[in-house]
Amino acid sequence: MARESTGVIWMNGTFVPYEDAKIHVLSHVVHYGSSVFEGIRAYATPSGTAVFRLDRHVQRMLDSCKIARIACPYGYAELMEAIRETVRKNGCAPCYIRPVVYRGFKTLGVNPTGVPIDVAIATLNWGKYLGKDALDHGISVRVASWNRQAPNTFPAMAKTGANYLNSQLIKLEAVADGYEEGIALDVFGYVAEGSGENIFLVRGDTLYTPTVASAILPGVTRDCVITLARHLELEVREEQIPREMLYISDELFFTGTAAEITPITQVDRIPIGTGAVGPVTRKLQKAFFDIIEGRARDAHRWLFPVEATGKVQRAAKKAR
Ligand SMILES: Cc1ncc(COP(=O)(O)O)c(C=O)c1O
Repeated sequence: MARESTGVIWMNGTFVPYEDAKIHVLSHVVHYGSSVFEGIRAYATPSGTAVFRLDRHVQRMLDSCKIARIACPYGYAELMEAIRETVRKNGCAPCYIRPVVYRGFKTLGVNPTGVPIDVAIATLNWGKYLGKDALDHGISVRVASWNRQAPNTFPAMAKTGANYLNSQLIKLEAVADGYEEGIALDVFGYVAEGSGENIFLVRGDTLYTPTVASAILPGVTRDCVITLARHLELEVREEQIPREMLYISDELFFTGTAAEITPITQVDRIPIGTGAVGPVTRKLQKAFFDIIEGRARDAHRWLFPVEATGKVQRAAKKAR
């Protein structure tokens, strides 16, 4: 397998060479999926390397810990700085950042009481998640035979390792059947999300996306797209979406840190709209990439420079 990770990995406050970043096979997380994690991107902008929406990602990781009852040994400010330091040290941009909080090695019982909680941060050389052409030409997806989790089973709002068996099944099924990705419905039959992406529909002048009650992860990119769409004076509606709305939408796209804004041009082999990438998707892609690649003013303060001075840090904090 190609070496995906770069440089050093931050483990419990110490930088460890890539080859030495190991855990014990009897760690609780290996058996029970007891972890929470984030997926974050750093971009190369004209004013240096910047981490995209670092504040939101760190906050969501701490929220996930709270839901999963994992007492993270590091706080918000420490995680913010550790992530920036890892990117700085590895000198990588653009790159993907993977912080993970996990139950480590002590006893193998399901009850995690007394099991240590460890934290690691790695950077990876990930390119375009859904393929090189996906952003320009769109992808073909199927509606998954697997639903997202029922309410009060697995916590969909938490980005926990255990939830991702569901994502793996959705993705494996889609790829085995010749599609790039799957769209899962919730247990009531309403549209939820992709295996690792939120979804948006365009119909007329309105943008629709499922509510957080439809078993979705509240995506950071989803939040960006809602903000950008409102600035473009589009009506945005978060509501329950029946499956058939997918087929009659004018445009459809996925959002996610890995997927960014990826157009969907076919669902279950049915062309969406004209079957080509639509104008609203293109407008939102442009607004998004102009900010993250530093061509437009960062009006929403979404970029966190890794080399930030105290002054910049204080300004970013104040804006929150
Ligand atoms: C299941 C799931 N839904 C949605 C998303 C999109 O979230 P974000 O935009 O924060 O990356 C992700 C990716 O993290 C995901 O894994």
